[in-house]
Amino acid sequence: MTARIIDGKARAAALRARVGEQHAAFERAAGRKAGLAVVLVGEDPASAVYVRSKGKATEAAGMASSTHRLAAKTSEGDLLTLVRQLNGDPAVDGILVQLPLPGHINENAVIAAIDPNKDVDGFHPVNAGRLASGLQGFVPCTPLGCLMLLKEELGDLSGLDAVVIGRSNIVGKPMAALLLAESCTVTIAHSRTRDLAAKAAAADIVVAAVGRPEMIKGDWLKPGATVIDVGINRVPDGEGTRLVGDVDFDGALSVAGAITPVPGGVGPMTIAVLLRNTLLAAHRNAG
Ligand code: GUN
Repeated sequence: MTARIIDGKARAAALRARVGEQHAAFERAAGRKAGLAVVLVGEDPASAVYVRSKGKATEAAGMASSTHRLAAKTSEGDLLTLVRQLNGDPAVDGILVQLPLPGHINENAVIAAIDPNKDVDGFHPVNAGRLASGLQGFVPCTPLGCLMLLKEELGDLSGLDAVVIGRSNIVGKPMAALLLAESCTVTIAHSRTRDLAAKAAAADIVVAAVGRPEMIKGDWLKPGATVIDVGINRVPDGEGTRLVGDVDFDGALSVAGAITPVPGGVGPMTIAVLLRNTLLAAHRNAG
Protein backbone atom coordinates (compact mmCIF):
# COMPACT_ATOMS: atom_id res chain seq x y z
CA MET A 1 0.00 0.00 0.00
CA THR A 2 1.16 3.52 -0.69
CA ALA A 3 -0.45 6.23 1.40
CA ARG A 4 -2.42 9.02 -0.23
CA ILE A 5 -0.63 12.34 0.22
CA ILE A 6 -2.96 14.90 1.78
CA ASP A 7 -2.37 18.11 -0.14
CA GLY A 8 -2.63 20.75 2.59
CA LYS A 9 -1.44 23.46 0.24
CA ALA A 10 -4.36 22.90 -2.14
CA ARG A 11 -6.88 22.55 0.72
CA ALA A 12 -5.59 25.75 2.29
CA ALA A 13 -5.79 27.61 -1.03
CA ALA A 14 -9.42 26.51 -1.39
CA LEU A 15 -10.25 27.65 2.16
CA ARG A 16 -8.53 31.01 1.60
CA ALA A 17 -10.50 31.54 -1.60
CA ARG A 18 -13.75 30.70 0.21
CA VAL A 19 -12.95 33.08 3.08
CA GLY A 20 -12.06 35.79 0.54
CA GLU A 21 -15.50 35.44 -1.10
CA GLN A 22 -17.29 35.44 2.25
CA HIS A 23 -15.30 38.47 3.31
CA ALA A 24 -16.33 40.36 0.17
CA ALA A 25 -19.97 39.73 1.14
CA PHE A 26 -19.23 40.88 4.73
CA GLU A 27 -17.61 44.07 3.43
CA ARG A 28 -20.58 44.87 1.18
CA ALA A 29 -23.04 44.34 4.05
CA ALA A 30 -21.04 45.96 6.87
CA GLY A 31 -19.45 48.78 4.85
CA ARG A 32 -16.02 47.99 6.30
CA LYS A 33 -13.28 45.39 6.11
CA ALA A 34 -12.54 42.82 8.78
CA GLY A 35 -9.28 43.78 10.52
CA LEU A 36 -6.44 41.66 11.92
CA ALA A 37 -3.72 43.17 14.12
CA VAL A 38 -0.53 41.14 14.50
CA VAL A 39 2.03 41.99 17.18
CA LEU A 40 5.67 40.91 16.90
CA VAL A 41 8.12 41.54 19.74
CA GLY A 42 11.81 41.17 18.90
CA GLU A 43 13.65 40.00 15.81
CA ASP A 44 13.34 36.21 15.82
CA PRO A 45 13.79 35.44 12.10
CA ALA A 46 11.28 32.53 11.98
CA SER A 47 8.62 34.64 13.74
CA ALA A 48 9.30 37.54 11.37
CA VAL A 49 8.69 35.22 8.38
CA TYR A 50 5.42 33.92 9.89
CA VAL A 51 4.22 37.44 10.70
CA ARG A 52 4.98 38.68 7.18
CA SER A 53 3.07 35.79 5.60
CA LYS A 54 0.11 36.36 7.94
CA GLY A 55 -0.03 40.02 6.89
CA LYS A 56 0.21 39.16 3.19
CA ALA A 57 -2.48 36.46 3.40
CA THR A 58 -4.81 38.83 5.29
CA GLU A 59 -4.49 41.44 2.55
CA ALA A 60 -4.86 38.82 -0.20
CA ALA A 61 -8.22 37.89 1.35
CA GLY A 62 -9.25 41.55 1.10
CA MET A 63 -9.05 42.20 4.86
CA ALA A 64 -7.30 45.04 6.68
CA SER A 65 -3.96 44.04 8.18
CA SER A 66 -1.85 45.96 10.68
CA THR A 67 1.49 44.77 12.03
CA HIS A 68 2.94 46.18 15.23
CA ARG A 69 6.68 45.54 15.51
CA LEU A 70 8.16 46.17 18.95
CA ALA A 71 11.80 46.02 20.06
CA ALA A 72 12.98 42.90 21.91
CA LYS A 73 13.54 44.99 25.07
CA THR A 74 9.91 46.23 25.15
CA SER A 75 8.52 45.97 28.68
CA GLU A 76 5.58 43.74 29.53
CA GLY A 77 3.70 46.88 30.62
CA ASP A 78 4.15 48.53 27.21
CA LEU A 79 3.01 45.37 25.42
CA LEU A 80 -0.07 45.14 27.67
CA THR A 81 -0.84 48.79 26.90
CA LEU A 82 -0.75 48.03 23.16
CA VAL A 83 -2.98 44.96 23.60
CA ARG A 84 -5.55 47.02 25.54
CA GLN A 85 -5.47 49.71 22.87
CA LEU A 86 -6.18 47.07 20.19
CA ASN A 87 -8.97 45.61 22.37
CA GLY A 88 -10.66 49.02 22.27
CA ASP A 89 -10.13 49.68 18.54
CA PRO A 90 -13.38 49.00 16.61
CA ALA A 91 -11.42 48.53 13.34
CA VAL A 92 -9.59 45.56 14.88
CA ASP A 93 -11.60 42.32 14.91
CA GLY A 94 -8.75 39.93 15.62
CA ILE A 95 -5.55 40.26 17.66
CA LEU A 96 -2.61 37.88 17.36
CA VAL A 97 0.51 38.25 19.50
CA GLN A 98 3.20 36.13 17.86
CA LEU A 99 4.79 33.60 20.22
CA PRO A 100 7.31 32.97 21.63
CA LEU A 101 7.77 36.29 23.44
CA PRO A 102 11.14 37.38 24.89
CA GLY A 103 11.93 35.70 28.23
CA HIS A 104 11.26 38.76 30.42
CA ILE A 105 7.60 38.90 29.30
CA ASN A 106 4.98 36.64 30.90
CA GLU A 107 3.21 35.04 27.92
CA ASN A 108 0.22 33.96 29.96
CA ALA A 109 -0.36 37.51 31.21
CA VAL A 110 -0.28 38.84 27.65
CA ILE A 111 -2.65 36.16 26.31
CA ALA A 112 -5.03 36.81 29.22
CA ALA A 113 -5.08 40.54 28.37
CA ILE A 114 -6.47 39.94 24.86
CA ASP A 115 -10.25 40.41 24.59
CA PRO A 116 -11.48 36.78 24.28
CA ASN A 117 -13.83 37.91 21.49
CA LYS A 118 -10.82 39.16 19.47
CA ASP A 119 -8.61 36.17 20.34
CA VAL A 120 -8.39 34.67 16.84
CA ASP A 121 -5.55 32.38 18.01
CA GLY A 122 -7.94 30.78 20.52
CA PHE A 123 -5.24 30.83 23.23
CA HIS A 124 -7.14 32.84 25.89
CA PRO A 125 -8.22 30.68 28.86
CA VAL A 126 -11.84 31.67 28.19
CA ASN A 127 -11.63 30.23 24.68
CA ALA A 128 -9.79 27.12 25.94
CA GLY A 129 -12.63 26.69 28.44
CA ARG A 130 -15.29 27.23 25.79
CA LEU A 131 -13.68 24.54 23.61
CA ALA A 132 -13.43 22.11 26.54
CA SER A 133 -17.09 22.79 27.43
CA GLY A 134 -18.43 22.50 23.88
CA LEU A 135 -19.33 26.21 23.72
CA GLN A 136 -18.87 28.58 20.80
CA GLY A 137 -15.52 30.41 20.92
CA PHE A 138 -12.30 30.65 18.95
CA VAL A 139 -10.40 27.44 18.26
CA PRO A 140 -6.59 27.47 17.78
CA CYS A 141 -5.74 27.58 14.08
CA THR A 142 -3.38 24.62 13.73
CA PRO A 143 -5.55 21.95 15.38
CA LEU A 144 -8.67 23.24 13.63
CA GLY A 145 -6.79 23.02 10.31
CA CYS A 146 -5.82 19.42 11.19
CA LEU A 147 -9.45 18.58 11.95
CA MET A 148 -10.58 20.03 8.62
CA LEU A 149 -8.03 17.85 6.78
CA LEU A 150 -9.18 14.78 8.72
CA LYS A 151 -12.86 15.38 7.98
CA GLU A 152 -12.19 15.99 4.30
CA GLU A 153 -10.20 12.76 4.20
CA LEU A 154 -12.38 10.49 6.35
CA GLY A 155 -15.82 12.10 6.55
CA ASP A 156 -17.49 11.13 9.83
CA LEU A 157 -14.88 10.53 12.55
CA SER A 158 -17.34 9.10 15.06
CA GLY A 159 -16.04 6.06 16.95
CA LEU A 160 -12.53 6.16 15.49
CA ASP A 161 -9.50 5.67 17.76
CA ALA A 162 -7.26 8.75 17.73
CA VAL A 163 -3.85 9.31 19.30
CA VAL A 164 -2.60 12.85 19.75
CA ILE A 165 1.13 12.88 20.42
CA GLY A 166 1.97 16.11 22.27
CA ARG A 167 0.10 18.01 25.00
CA SER A 168 0.79 21.68 24.31
CA ASN A 169 -1.88 24.34 24.85
CA ILE A 170 -1.44 25.41 21.21
CA VAL A 171 -1.87 22.04 19.49
CA GLY A 172 -2.12 18.85 21.57
CA LYS A 173 -4.81 19.78 24.12
CA PRO A 174 -7.16 21.60 21.71
CA MET A 175 -6.65 18.84 19.10
CA ALA A 176 -7.75 16.24 21.64
CA ALA A 177 -10.81 18.34 22.58
CA LEU A 178 -11.79 18.70 18.89
CA LEU A 179 -11.46 14.98 18.23
CA LEU A 180 -13.46 14.19 21.36
CA ALA A 181 -16.19 16.56 20.15
CA GLU A 182 -16.24 14.51 16.91
CA SER A 183 -16.87 11.40 19.04
CA CYS A 184 -13.43 9.86 18.59
CA THR A 185 -11.92 7.79 21.38
CA VAL A 186 -8.91 9.95 22.20
CA THR A 187 -5.55 9.09 23.74
CA ILE A 188 -3.17 11.94 24.55
CA ALA A 189 0.44 10.73 24.51
CA HIS A 190 3.47 12.77 25.62
CA SER A 191 7.12 12.51 26.65
CA ARG A 192 6.29 10.33 29.68
CA THR A 193 4.01 7.93 27.79
CA ARG A 194 5.04 4.30 28.06
CA ASP A 195 5.16 2.21 24.89
CA LEU A 196 4.18 4.93 22.47
CA ALA A 197 4.56 2.48 19.57
CA ALA A 198 1.73 0.33 20.98
CA LYS A 199 -0.50 3.40 21.45
CA ALA A 200 0.15 4.45 17.83
CA ALA A 201 -0.47 0.91 16.56
CA ALA A 202 -4.01 0.97 17.97
CA ALA A 203 -4.98 4.27 16.31
CA ASP A 204 -7.02 4.97 13.18
CA ILE A 205 -5.86 8.60 13.43
CA VAL A 206 -2.40 9.77 14.54
CA VAL A 207 -1.75 13.48 15.08
CA ALA A 208 1.94 14.09 15.73
CA ALA A 209 2.86 17.34 17.47
CA VAL A 210 5.94 16.62 19.57
CA GLY A 211 8.58 18.69 17.80
CA ARG A 212 11.05 15.82 17.42
CA PRO A 213 12.30 15.08 13.91
CA GLU A 214 11.03 11.78 12.46
CA MET A 215 10.35 10.31 15.90
CA ILE A 216 7.22 8.37 14.90
CA LYS A 217 8.21 5.37 12.84
CA GLY A 218 6.27 3.82 9.98
CA ASP A 219 6.23 0.35 11.54
CA TRP A 220 4.46 1.74 14.64
CA LEU A 221 1.38 2.58 12.59
CA LYS A 222 -1.81 0.62 12.09
CA PRO A 223 -2.09 -0.26 8.37
CA GLY A 224 -4.37 2.25 6.67
CA ALA A 225 -4.15 4.84 9.48
CA THR A 226 -4.54 8.54 8.69
CA VAL A 227 -1.48 10.48 9.82
CA ILE A 228 -1.41 14.24 10.42
CA ASP A 229 2.11 15.56 10.96
CA VAL A 230 2.22 18.95 12.70
CA GLY A 231 6.01 18.91 13.19
CA ILE A 232 8.25 21.34 11.33
CA ASN A 233 11.87 20.48 12.18
CA ARG A 234 14.95 21.74 10.42
CA VAL A 235 17.66 19.07 10.21
CA PRO A 236 21.15 19.04 8.65
CA ASP A 237 21.24 17.69 5.09
CA GLY A 238 24.58 17.55 3.29
CA GLU A 239 25.88 21.12 3.08
CA GLY A 240 22.52 22.66 4.01
CA THR A 241 19.35 21.79 5.89
CA ARG A 242 15.89 20.44 5.10
CA LEU A 243 12.51 20.39 6.80
CA VAL A 244 11.11 17.17 8.22
CA GLY A 245 8.05 16.38 10.30
CA ASP A 246 7.65 14.43 13.54
CA VAL A 247 6.83 11.32 11.48
CA ASP A 248 9.31 9.26 9.47
CA PHE A 249 7.51 10.11 6.22
CA ASP A 250 9.23 7.56 3.96
CA GLY A 251 8.68 4.77 6.50
CA ALA A 252 5.03 5.74 6.96
CA LEU A 253 4.25 5.87 3.22
CA SER A 254 4.02 2.09 2.84
CA VAL A 255 1.83 1.60 5.95
CA ALA A 256 -0.48 4.59 6.37
CA GLY A 257 -3.68 5.09 4.38
CA ALA A 258 -3.11 8.83 4.07
CA ILE A 259 -0.48 11.26 5.37
CA THR A 260 0.29 14.98 5.34
CA PRO A 261 3.71 15.92 3.93
CA VAL A 262 6.14 18.41 5.54
CA PRO A 263 6.23 21.01 4.18
CA GLY A 264 2.90 21.43 2.34
CA GLY A 265 0.60 19.63 4.77
CA VAL A 266 -0.63 21.20 7.99
CA GLY A 267 1.47 24.40 7.76
CA PRO A 268 -0.52 26.16 5.01
CA MET A 269 -3.81 25.33 6.78
CA THR A 270 -2.82 27.35 9.87
CA ILE A 271 -2.87 30.71 8.08
CA ALA A 272 -6.04 29.83 6.16
CA VAL A 273 -7.83 29.08 9.45
CA LEU A 274 -6.50 32.33 10.95
CA LEU A 275 -8.29 34.21 8.14
CA ARG A 276 -11.42 32.16 8.75
CA ASN A 277 -11.26 33.00 12.49
CA THR A 278 -10.75 36.70 11.72
CA LEU A 279 -13.84 36.79 9.50
CA LEU A 280 -15.79 34.95 12.21
CA ALA A 281 -14.65 37.57 14.75
CA ALA A 282 -15.77 40.36 12.42
CA HIS A 283 -19.23 38.80 12.02
CA ARG A 284 -19.55 38.32 15.79
CA ASN A 285 -18.31 41.83 16.59
CA ALA A 286 -20.64 43.35 13.98
CA GLY A 287 -23.66 41.33 15.11
N1 GUN B 1 3.94 30.81 17.16
C1 GUN B 1 3.93 29.62 16.51
N2 GUN B 1 2.67 29.31 16.12
C2 GUN B 1 1.88 30.32 16.54
C3 GUN B 1 0.49 30.59 16.43
O1 GUN B 1 -0.29 29.80 15.88
N3 GUN B 1 0.07 31.75 16.97
C4 GUN B 1 0.90 32.61 17.60
N4 GUN B 1 0.39 33.72 18.12
N5 GUN B 1 2.20 32.40 17.72
C5 GUN B 1 2.68 31.26 17.19
